[in-house]
Amino acid sequence: MLVGEHTVIPASLLALLTNWPAGILVVTLLAVRLRRARNDSLSTIPAVGYSAPILSFITAFQFNVDGHKLLQQGYDKYKPGLFKIAMWDQWYVVATGPQLVNDISKAPDDVLSVMEGSHELFQVRYTMGSQVTRNPYHIPLIRSQLSKRLSVIFDDIHDEVVAAFNNVVPEKGSEWISLSPHLTVEKVICRISNRVFVGTPTYLNDDYQGLNIEFAVNVTQLARRISQFPGFLRPIVGPLLTTLPSQLKRQTKHLAPIIEARRKQMLQHGDDWEKPNDMLMRLMDAAEGEELSTTNLARRVLALNFDSIHTSSKTFIYALYDLAANPQYVQPLREEVEAALEADGWTKAGLDRMQKVDSFLRESQRVHGLHYASMRRVALKPFTFSNGITIPAGTTVACCTKPVHCDGAIYDRPDVFDPFRFVETREDQAPQKTVSTSLNHLPFGHGLHACPGRFFAATELKTMLAHIVVSYDVKFEEGQEFPPDYFSEVFCVPGPATIMFRKRQLVH
Ligand code: HEM
Ligand SMILES: *[C@@H]1O[C@H](CO)[C@@H](O)[C@H](O)[C@H]1NC(C)=O
Repeated sequence: MLVGEHTVIPASLLALLTNWPAGILVVTLLAVRLRRARNDSLSTIPAVGYSAPILSFITAFQFNVDGHKLLQQGYDKYKPGLFKIAMWDQWYVVATGPQLVNDISKAPDDVLSVMEGSHELFQVRYTMGSQVTRNPYHIPLIRSQLSKRLSVIFDDIHDEVVAAFNNVVPEKGSEWISLSPHLTVEKVICRISNRVFVGTPTYLNDDYQGLNIEFAVNVTQLARRISQFPGFLRPIVGPLLTTLPSQLKRQTKHLAPIIEARRKQMLQHGDDWEKPNDMLMRLMDAAEGEELSTTNLARRVLALNFDSIHTSSKTFIYALYDLAANPQYVQPLREEVEAALEADGWTKAGLDRMQKVDSFLRESQRVHGLHYASMRRVALKPFTFSNGITIPAGTTVACCTKPVHCDGAIYDRPDVFDPFRFVETREDQAPQKTVSTSLNHLPFGHGLHACPGRFFAATELKTMLAHIVVSYDVKFEEGQEFPPDYFSEVFCVPGPATIMFRKRQLVH
């Protein structure tokens, strides 16, 4: 059929069919009606937005673009309790209030599955490969080899923080240099993290860095495209749309030479050789069966980067904006960092003394945060909350996060960025540290699946922040201020702004 100016109706029909979201909508309609019928048991849970069959598409659409508004509405109206939001082909059930968040945080995996939750959120089957969540052997390694050995790897982290910043902010006397944090912070984080993940010299390779940075962004985009299709079509479109094979090939090209060299050493010397001190080596030691293959090791390193780069860099950009927007806090931070350095130098012990730096980061995470809901799970069996409400198998659940952090009943003056509010103030009161999660502080989740990378992330980000305050002056470019956030679905990221850096000017 020709598409000309006389064929208005066929042309729009064609447009409908070739325009994915619209075409999919039609197909989805069917799926939704089937699925909703099975979900009648959720009818006691109040809905935010529309819940009638066709109108609920409006809400599903709104959830995709402005999910944060719906989540805030639900929180304000139904806390403490449950509410639900229509997605294209299912309900998204959200828990609010400490009791119900506690229920989710403690639920065992065979009842509320974190694996199925991340399959849904990131379409892991197609974007990374299902073994990443089916056999998550890297998670205990993050706990034992990364989190518990931070004192040992601290030198590497600090060294790389200095080198990475020297590289993006060249020393130029007293001149200000403009930087777009979105471009630079990801590179800095990628470099520091990968020194610890794969070691020398791979972590410095431009193509390797580009791949691992883009991978995180592309997975998220691809997952959203695949999620537009109803569940029963995903096994067909997922493999068609995925770019995983070429990404894996590229990652394998970078890692194969070092993996093979290490295998040779292992064959010759067993454990009796000077093993590199990085995550790749730990992965090679711990992997079993098919996970020992070069491709699957490469895949696992991609997954590690997926978990860390985006989360850590967006968190840091917010902290950087907070620093630029609140110059009155720079002096107290500098004094604290300098005192800590005098006592312990650039060591993990020195970093642990920096309570204000830690509190600054925690407060920045509280006020901004990367999500309005997290801890997504899929019920594999009927699950009964402590308020007596039961959700059937197959239901998606999550917890409100950002609305908790902005709740005036929990935090004093919640809208105020008060960077030292978590510093120890009384003798009987331990400081609330960036890494401590609670039912009222959920940037890293809480409970069984709280982020295992948070100890590493906090060390990395605090070292970066401490290094910046003692080494640079920072401000927004003339005429700019804290930019508005960008939202999509449950997520929130910092908007673009230009930050000016200059070598710190010592005034006496
Ligand atoms: C500031 C940076 C980071 C933030 C804000 C963050 C946040 C989170 C959140 C909210 C979860 C979900 C918890 C849940 O579903 O209950 C999570 C899980 C996870 N994070 Fe992080 N994360 C960060 C950095 C990292 C880093 C650096 C790594 C790796 C070294 C990492 C590895 C993981 C892994 C493996 C999980 C899954 C845990 C599980 O399923 O048991 N994260 N993270
Ligand atoms: C990510 O997506 C962009 C745009 O679609 C593409 O140019 C790039 O090659 C992709 N990167 C990776 C690592 O797949």
